[in-house]
Amino acid sequence: MSRRPVIAGNWKMNKTLDETKALIEELKPLVADAEAEVVFCPTFVNLAEAVKLTEGTNIGIGAQNMHQAEKGAFTGEVSGEMLTAIGVKYVVLGHSERREYYAETDEGVNEKTIKALALGLTPIVCCGETLEEREAGNAESKVVGQIQAGLKNIDDITKVIIAYEPIWAIGTGKTASKEEADEACGWVRKTIADMYGQDAADAVRVQYGGSVKPANVAELMAMDNIDGALVGGASLTADFAKIVKY
Ligand code: 13P
Repeated sequence: MSRRPVIAGNWKMNKTLDETKALIEELKPLVADAEAEVVFCPTFVNLAEAVKLTEGTNIGIGAQNMHQAEKGAFTGEVSGEMLTAIGVKYVVLGHSERREYYAETDEGVNEKTIKALALGLTPIVCCGETLEEREAGNAESKVVGQIQAGLKNIDDITKVIIAYEPIWAIGTGKTASKEEADEACGWVRKTIADMYGQDAADAVRVQYGGSVKPANVAELMAMDNIDGALVGGASLTADFAKIVKY
């Protein structure tokens, strides 16, 4: 069982077009010989340019969200068809910020995941508990519930990347300890085993996200259940290359 590590930068609502181009050009040579799969997720408006600038490189471009419908009266939304048409290969789904600020649900995440896979996009599906849930001893049940509901009825679960991102560690500088992160990624894998069998669970990749930086990435990546990182703040400068090549 060997799972290829995947390191993804979620740029969130950061970087203008010029800034996007500059960071991609800066990072391209720095990550060119990375062993890990490399993904950059800029904002929607900068995706087409990001795809063009990374053609022929080892960098894949991902969106930060998509709508499950092909088209229609959904003001402000972007469909998976629109993403694949410009060469986007990945899509982050169910990020905790989308769940919190835009009322995204596990049901919606499930619909989007199924749609993304049907289009050949690789979904990066996020899960994770709040600080209150962790302190109340409910972290595992929260994560298991999100996986059971968000990832049901998937034809090939091994094509999905799952990102465990404890909400209390996102943008706070507070990383989960490597043991906490590994334990939670293990809950994810066990849930996938219960739903889809052990072979699928052994093959599916589970990322950790939440204040990953050059200084802590190696110890996280050394853990059995952690196959990659979903990185926010520390993916916004050329230092991201140090994470990619941990
Ligand atoms: P930070 O790396 O800034 O904590 O963000 C993590 C995250 O939310 C990535 O999706």
